[in-house]
Amino acid sequence: MSTQRAVRVREKFLPFAAPLVGQEELDGVMECVRSGWLTTGLKVQEFERAFSGYIGCRHALAVNSCTAALHLALEAIGVGEGDEVITSPMTFTATAAVIEHLKARPVFSDCEPDSLNLDPRAIERRITPRTKAILPVHFAGQACDMNAILEVAKRRGLKVIEDAAHAIPTRYQGRLVGTLGDITCFSFYATKNVTTGEGGMIATEDDGYAERVRLMHLHGMSRDAWKRYTEAGSWSYEVLAPGFKYNLSDVAAAIGIPQLKHCDDFHARRREIARKYHEAFAGRAEIQVPQVRDEASHAWHLYVIQLDLDALRIDRDAFIRELVQRKIGVSVHFIPLHIHPYYRDRYGYAPADFPNAFGAFQRIISLPIYAKMTDDDVEDVIAAVLDTTEANRR
Ligand SMILES: Cc1ncc(COP(=O)(O)O)c(C=O)c1O
Repeated sequence: MSTQRAVRVREKFLPFAAPLVGQEELDGVMECVRSGWLTTGLKVQEFERAFSGYIGCRHALAVNSCTAALHLALEAIGVGEGDEVITSPMTFTATAAVIEHLKARPVFSDCEPDSLNLDPRAIERRITPRTKAILPVHFAGQACDMNAILEVAKRRGLKVIEDAAHAIPTRYQGRLVGTLGDITCFSFYATKNVTTGEGGMIATEDDGYAERVRLMHLHGMSRDAWKRYTEAGSWSYEVLAPGFKYNLSDVAAAIGIPQLKHCDDFHARRREIARKYHEAFAGRAEIQVPQVRDEASHAWHLYVIQLDLDALRIDRDAFIRELVQRKIGVSVHFIPLHIHPYYRDRYGYAPADFPNAFGAFQRIISLPIYAKMTDDDVEDVIAAVLDTTEANRR
């Protein structure tokens, strides 16, 4: 018999995600707007220096999204027509779309059922003579098993490009993500742990990749073309390659500089919320909480629970509807890419081709977790999840 709880419903809807921006970001933007220099310039350079200092990487190059970063990274390692790149189906569309943009083929490989990170043991079977790279995604902000992935890559002569959209700050065996693979790509989208509204960063130790990415992110124009309208610059430039328009603006960088300064504080708050969720849910048979591996740390960009559907009378979608009725915004990360019409039809995938990703998809719910949440917000989420669980327990 389930015990009856008093159902507590918030007055105001709690958004699934929201940035924490304050006076420093406002001051930075005002200073930038007043200066009259709105596009890429000194603020971007300052942001790049701060980022490489924070991560401890040799090169950091700011771009206008993680999608752009991934596109540039794959281009820099030479991915092109007919090549294959191995990645997880448990990711956002951008991870695979950029492979398609280069006329290469995204080859999905299943994730682990618990971490939802690329399973290193499954990768080897997907490698063919056309495979160029492995593209692991640090799902939710937990580091992938990078030793195993880097070992396969080294043995089979492949590059490793990391999708670290969720992974700041994430450590693997004590090292921050951003110093492990060949090139790492970060996101500063509005909901991310560090935001510039829209933005991204490329981190690499390799001088050659850094040079190629720097060239291609701004029209393929010679190095100092960005300052061609200043007294210090020159009107003359050369186009060395048909590059992209992926530069970050100084306005965005002005938001990113204070955001990065507070990254560890934001992370501490996310960790605290994750701890509260763990304490509230860990003993419940109906809810599987995220597990953090010994060698990995977690940025807690997402807090993803998995429902035990055998222990409940409702499915995941109905569970979400009940949370929304209780004014709690939630989401699902992700609808696996292989069941989306484009990938399903183009490559003939069936849902069961990646059983861990598809199985998890039917059970996962991402709960709100962000630095701006108050303790009351956290308690409301806990109450809503527990009420829904108790009301629908088998
Ligand atoms: C795993 C993953 N990769 C890439 C991206 C793309 O990031 P951006 O919006 O900065 O292009 C996202 C965005 O949500 C993501 O979740």
